[in-house]
Amino acid sequence: METRPENALRLGVNIDHIATLRNARGGTHPDPVAGAWAAIQAGADGITAHLREDRRHMRDDDMTRLQMLCLDSGIPLNMEMAVTDEMETIARDLCPHAVCLVPERREERTTEGGLNVAGDHNRITSLVSKLADKGCRLSLFIEAVPEQIDMAAKTGAPVVELHTGAYAHALDAQDGEAAERILKQLKTGVKRAVDLGLEVHAGHGLTFDNVAPIAAISEVKELNIGHFLIGEAVFMGLENAIAEMRRLMDAARL
Ligand code: PXP
Repeated sequence: METRPENALRLGVNIDHIATLRNARGGTHPDPVAGAWAAIQAGADGITAHLREDRRHMRDDDMTRLQMLCLDSGIPLNMEMAVTDEMETIARDLCPHAVCLVPERREERTTEGGLNVAGDHNRITSLVSKLADKGCRLSLFIEAVPEQIDMAAKTGAPVVELHTGAYAHALDAQDGEAAERILKQLKTGVKRAVDLGLEVHAGHGLTFDNVAPIAAISEVKELNIGHFLIGEAVFMGLENAIAEMRRLMDAARL
């Protein structure tokens, strides 16, 4: 019988890049919603999908089908979106379990950097309140810096997701010193956010090789992982990739 830690982390599987692969040929295969179903079967605690302004991966009807699947399966759907009027309308219609507000720039390859909550406080606070009224649980994707964490708490959002991209990049670049420094900053940020009453999630760039130190931060409740799991699925299958990620996350907490 599998032993799981008492304070096991939740794993949100981001399925965007199944859609990237589908869109490479413009057809219907592979279907990201079928991928979400496979991820749920493999033990994902939640499904995450980013509807970008340019629809480079997920499309509007994918989000509708995902919401139906998640409601039927009793699994939370976490919709990532930019702070725009268009996305607000879509999220209000869709009513996903959770909405994670992220920064978005057309020219970026992926979500680079966190949301500037401090610089866009009024707009973000208003969106948090409007989507909370629709029953969505709001999360803000931010860098682990005190100013952003403090301002995030003031928006009324119950959750922050701390950006682990810089930590992952430092390790990729074999810059252990930078990785240590960023990890320390993440730990301090987690503590600050928890002290302000926020639930803390983390994600971006996480892999089998770098997940353990992040998963070991005991106050973090959820990791959102996408690109690596979908890429690794090519070699070992999605089910095995998710099972191995869960095993590493649990092992970091036992
Ligand atoms: N969390 C957020 C808010 C993101 O925008 C992304 C990337 O879409 C992730 C987590 C997952 O990052 P990755 O695909 O690198 O695992």
